[in-house]
Amino acid sequence: MYCRRRDGFLNRQAEKAYIRVLVLIKRSGKMGKISLDSYNNMAEYYFKFVDSKPFNAYYERPATLSLLPDVAGKRVLDAGCAAGWYTKWLLDHGADVTALDFSPKMIEMTKLRVGSNAKVIEADLNEPLDFLKDEQFDVILSSLTLHYLKNWEPVMHEFNRILEKSGTLVFSVHHPFMDFAYFNRENYFATELLTDEWKTHDGTETVRFYRRPLHKIISPVRNADFIIDEVLEPMPTEKFKKARPEAYDRLTKKPQFLFFRVVKNG
Ligand SMILES: C[S@@+](CC[C@H](N)C(=O)[O-])C[C@H]1O[C@@H](n2cnc3c(N)ncnc32)[C@H](O)[C@@H]1O
Repeated sequence: MYCRRRDGFLNRQAEKAYIRVLVLIKRSGKMGKISLDSYNNMAEYYFKFVDSKPFNAYYERPATLSLLPDVAGKRVLDAGCAAGWYTKWLLDHGADVTALDFSPKMIEMTKLRVGSNAKVIEADLNEPLDFLKDEQFDVILSSLTLHYLKNWEPVMHEFNRILEKSGTLVFSVHHPFMDFAYFNRENYFATELLTDEWKTHDGTETVRFYRRPLHKIISPVRNADFIIDEVLEPMPTEKFKKARPEAYDRLTKKPQFLFFRVVKNG
């Protein structure tokens, strides 16, 4: 039905059907890549401004860093590297770093930041990471990235495959309570795509991500044969209080992010 001859289509109907299939393939490929365009648009903003944003600098990063083991001499994957803040931090602390992100613009920014000191790869965590070998890493760090993926089973199995025995995965995500309350959702147990507007230095950007209940965070981790070692719901730091006193009060009552350290079984 979709036959295409070298010199054109067999008939108009076949041509229309062919185009419909192409559109569907393109759309389904893009559907998995949630917020790809937004992150491409925000790459320079991340590079220039996000390093010092209080939510990152004084809330997310202290908690994530407190969960990391000593990385000196370790092979570390930064999965969802954005403009490379963690990539640089890991290099500065003696790690052998591979960084990946699905946004080509973010990849450019990370390369700008770290040059050739890390391997920086454009890749989608929704897809098999078959360019990475079994047991290639001692540590995987994935900060504020996994909530852009609908299905966590494949990525958790891939993380397990590429980690050394007893290797560590540290990740942070939006806290399920925060998204449920802030977006005034009706069904806590649903996994659903939410849309938010973020202010940037030169306007706003629409960002979409998945909210899911807590058990849908924990099950894929355990199904992939990880053992949960630590869970953090941190208080904001004193530096955060100085920078954003009004948000500090809110964060002491309502968590924004959730942090895990999990270890490969065996
Ligand atoms: C909030 S930013 C991460 C921030 C970064 N880890 C940091 O703290 O500096 C989320 C990143 O995840 C990337 N990302 C989202 N979905 C992805 C996917 N499916 N595969 C790979 N990267 C993805 C985005 O391009 C973006 O750079």
